[in-house]
Amino acid sequence: MTATETAQPRDAGGGRVALVTGAASGIGRAIAVLFARRGMAVSIVDLDEGGSHAVEEAIRHAGGRARAIAADVSDADDCRSVVEVAVEAFGRLDVLVNNAGIIRRATVLDTTEEEWDRVMAVNVKSVFLLSKYAVPEMAAAGGGAIINISSGWGLKGGPRAAAYCASKGAVVQLTRAMAIDHAAANIRVNCLCPGDTDTAMLRHEARQLGEPEDRFLADAAVRPLGRIGRPEDVAEAAWFLASDASAFVTGTTLVVDGGGLA
Ligand code: NAI
Repeated sequence: MTATETAQPRDAGGGRVALVTGAASGIGRAIAVLFARRGMAVSIVDLDEGGSHAVEEAIRHAGGRARAIAADVSDADDCRSVVEVAVEAFGRLDVLVNNAGIIRRATVLDTTEEEWDRVMAVNVKSVFLLSKYAVPEMAAAGGGAIINISSGWGLKGGPRAAAYCASKGAVVQLTRAMAIDHAAANIRVNCLCPGDTDTAMLRHEARQLGEPEDRFLADAAVRPLGRIGRPEDVAEAAWFLASDASAFVTGTTLVVDGGGLA
């Protein structure tokens, strides 16, 4: 983590409280760090206990408020207790970012039933479970914002990623359904669709496909804005959807991909 990433906390978050899943790495970490820097208290939820503690430490070191919580977001008991612990730590819950995700680069023929179930559980079921426990807390606090991280491949197909594309399409539709259901409780539900972003996941994809990382990342940079995405690009868009700047925005998908889908 760089000094710029963890620079001076500011109060634009208005004392709000956020919970970010998959926040030990990549996009989730960038979201947690940005939210904390702008004044939110952040629960850092991840399977990777060491990684989430490192993010917690970095945020606290910079003067922000953070709490690492080890959990598997595909597990109902874990999700229930994550929300309980987060609310106990900071007194309320205003923002939920469902970011944790995994990818299996394979066709239907090469995907096992176990792999299919795992991708759907981590990428989709987790959004259902965490929302189930978070929505009542948000409603009790007068409202909130839920941000689901889908993908460009939630809007169009991609090769050798059958389970992943199915899961990300489901996240887009779940977002729309939840936006309708919970608007009356003043809870906005939106979806972010990043394009290729330089994280551990993207490098893992190169390895799964047996391609050299350098070439894979160079190919990912071929898009109108001429570069690969940075986790911070997605974090800024998540900040918009979490803040009052997007007060009249719900049920939508925001694509952050340097023009790739265009
Ligand atoms: P990453 O691999 O760097 O980080 C994912 C984090 O989620 C890791 O810290 C991992 O430990 C955690 N995680 C995985 N399974 C978990 C579980 N069951 N319970 C709790 N935590 C779990 O990945 P990255 O790239 O930051 O991805 C974040 C999100 O963005 C994912 O939903 C991904 O599908 C999405 N995305 C990423 C793109 C990219 O090019 N990197 C493009 C489009 C979408």
